[in-house]
Amino acid sequence: MITTVRTRVAIVGAGPAGLLLSHLLADAGIESVVVDRRSRDEIESTIRAGILEQETVRTLSETGASDRVLTVGNRHDGIELHFEGEGHRIDFSSLTGRSVWLYPQHEALKDLIAARLAAGQDLRFETEVTGIGDVETDRPWITATAGDGSELRIEAEFVVGADGSRSGVRPAVTGSSSGGYFREYPFAWFGILCEASPSSHELIYSNSPHGFALISQRSATVQRMYFQCDPEADPSVLSEAEIWDTLQARVPGTTLIEGPIFQRDVLRFRSFVAHELRHGRAVLVGDAAHTVPPTGAKGMNLAVADVVLLDRALRALLLENDTRLIDTFAQTALKRIWKAQHFSWWMTSMLHTAADASAFDRRRQVGELRSVVESEAGQTFLAEAYTGWPHTAQ
Ligand code: PHB
Repeated sequence: MITTVRTRVAIVGAGPAGLLLSHLLADAGIESVVVDRRSRDEIESTIRAGILEQETVRTLSETGASDRVLTVGNRHDGIELHFEGEGHRIDFSSLTGRSVWLYPQHEALKDLIAARLAAGQDLRFETEVTGIGDVETDRPWITATAGDGSELRIEAEFVVGADGSRSGVRPAVTGSSSGGYFREYPFAWFGILCEASPSSHELIYSNSPHGFALISQRSATVQRMYFQCDPEADPSVLSEAEIWDTLQARVPGTTLIEGPIFQRDVLRFRSFVAHELRHGRAVLVGDAAHTVPPTGAKGMNLAVADVVLLDRALRALLLENDTRLIDTFAQTALKRIWKAQHFSWWMTSMLHTAADASAFDRRRQVGELRSVVESEAGQTFLAEAYTGWPHTAQ
């Protein structure tokens, strides 16, 4: 028995991109169905990054997608770049007039899920997509299996793949599951959550001869920190003392406040951009379309920018039969995506140490960091990219 559901937009993935898109479309009276193979609990408890650009925060708060981002989130007006034992502050607000907010992604997801359910959104968890078809017509469909084994067919006017880096929609858009440009990195991040008071009020991105470390925060009593590690590292083998020794050695000149570590993970990353973002009436957004290393804190922000653009294009298409914005969607989105790819790659390569780095590479890297912090133009370049380019100028 297959249950058929008809809607205007079938959205695969209840992450930030899929949920925000359903929220924005609903505001224009465009109905959608959102499916995700994960449970609500899994989505709401997976630890992800936490930096939101000013435009992301504005979009979430002004549209009613999240009120807590402004009350629970913390505004950060700068970051510190740390190298050769010294910290150098990049003052975002004086350089660009913009700030970022530290608000963990899973908190934004809790807000979005609550808002969508309160609005009566058809949102189905534990529902796995099994097929997608007719994307070259104006009646594309997806089939899916729900957690109870029942089969579902969703007939729509547009299909959106917002289903993350292992996207099941991607093959229908690019012709293959991997079809894209990508770059691997020879390191990963070892991340911890610990019970301690903040070691710093702002994020510290540290380049040291021992490797990169990032000192981030979560609240007055919980901190998030990372250090560069081997991608094959097993997060369970290091003792807490070894973790603290590693972190302390990578921010020389600063003493980190230590506390019990209650979560640890190894985060592997790569840069990826799908060869195609759209095929007929199927489109990719967020991590399904591109992934970035976390050093530039761009992941969720890029997903939100894609969705703001797609929302406008779908409104024009589905409400006015105007195809112009959807026809230029990929071209427009890719301009920002490649700028973010460059920024994320640049921050990653400037701050991490490669195992095969020569003495020349090491000194060149410090020269590069100095060129940034000792020049207002260098600082401004970093600050503009980190706080995010305006949505209107994409
Ligand atoms: C985080 O707090 O998890 C975080 C912050 C900045 C990044 C990456 C992760 O660049």
